[in-house]
Amino acid sequence: MNRNLRALIVQACHNSRADPSGSTCNEYGSAGQVVVWHREFLVGYLKLILKEFTIHMQHDDRFPEPDSASAAHSQRVVEFMRERIAAAGGSISFAEFMQHALYAPGLGYYVAGASKFGVAGDFVTAPEVSRVFGRVVARQVAEVLAGLDDGAVFEYGAGSGRLAADVLGALNELGVLPVSYDILEVSPDLRERQECLLRDEVPELMRLVRWVDGPPEDFTGVIIANEVLDAFPVERFRCTADGVQQICVTGHGDSFATIAADAPGIIQDAVAVIERDLGQALPPGYESEVSLGLREWLVSLGTTLRQGVAFLFDYGVSRREYYAPDRDGGWLRCHFRHHAHGDALILPGIQDITAWVDFTAVAEAAVASGMEVAGFAPQAQFLMGGGLDLELQSMESLPAKAQLELSAQVKTLTLPGAMGENFKCMALRRGGAKVPSAFRLTDRTHTL
Ligand SMILES: C[S@@+](CC[C@H](N)C(=O)[O-])C[C@H]1O[C@@H](n2cnc3c(N)ncnc32)[C@H](O)[C@@H]1O
Repeated sequence: MNRNLRALIVQACHNSRADPSGSTCNEYGSAGQVVVWHREFLVGYLKLILKEFTIHMQHDDRFPEPDSASAAHSQRVVEFMRERIAAAGGSISFAEFMQHALYAPGLGYYVAGASKFGVAGDFVTAPEVSRVFGRVVARQVAEVLAGLDDGAVFEYGAGSGRLAADVLGALNELGVLPVSYDILEVSPDLRERQECLLRDEVPELMRLVRWVDGPPEDFTGVIIANEVLDAFPVERFRCTADGVQQICVTGHGDSFATIAADAPGIIQDAVAVIERDLGQALPPGYESEVSLGLREWLVSLGTTLRQGVAFLFDYGVSRREYYAPDRDGGWLRCHFRHHAHGDALILPGIQDITAWVDFTAVAEAAVASGMEVAGFAPQAQFLMGGGLDLELQSMESLPAKAQLELSAQVKTLTLPGAMGENFKCMALRRGGAKVPSAFRLTDRTHTL
């Protein structure tokens, strides 16, 4: 029995001893007393569990206060946002609010130096959880590169540079280096961090790495984007009996509030596509998101990729799940100091704002841009099909502590309640590139 549980039970016995009825754990002379004892024990035990649970909740789940520097920074973003709202006549679209909160030059979450990743930041991504993630991705990259002449790698939004370092290091070990490893990063401070990490960890491969300001043309090779699509600003909409409304943001005292206005044609059209695909209208009151930027990005990806595979990793679902009746509040998720919540209007500039990805929309836009879906699988199945077993083969030779750490990391990457199921990989291909072997175990393209 778990020691804490045992301690709780012992304490529950003590509590019931103190009960005015005078019954104890050990002294029960009649069936009636047994029933009383059981009831008292159970009540004492439940009270203790409740107390422990309350302490645990207070300890772990209290929303953290921003420190004074972060609070001052957020206040500057609030002022900036207010100016934009005033200039726009009283409100801005939710997508514009999200764009400023994340990317306003010198102010937005991704461009103003916040820690973002890891323990000191707000969230962790798969490459930050374990280097095994990047090593398995590298195996898939190697497979694709092996079938191409002079293939390169192009990574969107490389975060801390962790994935780039792990992929490059593993490709080097596999003897399948790309002709170049280009990174497109919109955040100047992340560019710097990426360069430091790569210089530290793979100095001998720096000759391959370049930071670019836009996607290449006629690209041959592998494109990688991990948790980039969820960072694109989304439009929020509400369905009413009279049509679709756009959810906008306005000032409200010291903070912000949402208001609804008639949706512009582009949002009405996007909702019409969704409803047509679902085969029914979304009910009045239904609220959700649609990522218009995602479509544009995939069009640009289609013009970029001439031959090769793009691996897109993100948390997301098929359209049917995305716009399911019970998801009538949408899929926004914000992160502040490892607390996930749904209020995008608070802490502008110092919290991450994301929206889950409608992978059916990704597939549609990709096909319309001349690419083909090569596979779609939950992260766990992608990793298991992609060589996770090979990466873990040498695990037994590690010291016990390292084995435990690695096993905990693999659990985080693969368990359904952690990152295994909600995170997906969609691979897009063009020009006859090989279908990645990672999808040999599971390919859920048919669910899109
Ligand atoms: C959640 S972070 C993920 C970082 C990294 N890929 C990882 O897995 O740790 C999102 C990244 O996408 C970048 N980003 C956002 N929009 C982008 C865009 N349109 N093009 C390229 N990078 C973008 C951000 O600056 C950031 O590096």
